[in-house]
Amino acid sequence: MSLDGFVTGPDPREGQPLGEGGERLHEWMFSERATPGGPPEHGQAAGANGEVARELFATTGAVLMGRRMFDLGVGPWGDTPFPAPCFVLTHQPHEDLVMAGGTFTFITTGLTTALDRAKAAAGGKNVLAHSPGIAQQLLRAGLLDEIQLHLVPVLLGTGRRLFDHAVQAGRELEPTGVIEAPGVTHLRYRLPR
Ligand SMILES: NC(=O)c1ccc[n+]([C@@H]2O[C@H](COP(=O)([O-])OP(=O)(O)OC[C@H]3O[C@@H](n4cnc5c(N)ncnc54)[C@H](OP(=O)(O)O)[C@@H]3O)[C@@H](O)[C@H]2O)c1
Repeated sequence: MSLDGFVTGPDPREGQPLGEGGERLHEWMFSERATPGGPPEHGQAAGANGEVARELFATTGAVLMGRRMFDLGVGPWGDTPFPAPCFVLTHQPHEDLVMAGGTFTFITTGLTTALDRAKAAAGGKNVLAHSPGIAQQLLRAGLLDEIQLHLVPVLLGTGRRLFDHAVQAGRELEPTGVIEAPGVTHLRYRLPR
């Protein structure tokens, strides 16, 4: 997420799912800048960023996303975004899509059905809410256990907000971890039920 709260830059679209400038938000996973504002050095992230990325992949047992994320992502990913079964919420029925990393299953019967299917498929690991819209629905419904933020010191100005319409005013979260790493601050919060 950008420092001003966006998970995409302006105008996310096919071919540019993270919008104008939004790729900056994922740079920490794949590359690092030797100097702030300097050119990114591509490759697998090293150090603390590499550890956070590896942990995210190792602990994700299933993924929940909305249809827009699927439509924009499936081309660039060429597979599932994590090596795990993925459940796509939509109102339009769609056949299962089997990929090397897992199967995309399309759920038309609502959030709790999708979450139950994802939990059952996750084998005791985490269910990761991939779309901001799905994370917001889970947060509103009191169904999120944890929020992990990867806060990037860039201002995007507009785009898709992570916390739109999701807030219960005054709700307290328990901070459970912070890692200051090159180009990003990794933050974890537990949501008491
Ligand atoms: N910065 C990051 O790390 C990051 C991570 C993930 C995503 N993103 C960005 O976030 C954007 C996508 O997320 P989004 O929140 O805008 O959209 P989304 O949640 O992926 O998709 C919205 C669609 O999902 C379906 N849907 C959602 N909730 C539903 C429900 N309860 N029941 C049935 N269908 C439901 C509907 O599809 P139908 O219209 O088919 O019914 C709805 O139009 C992309 O631009 C992506 O690049 C950024």
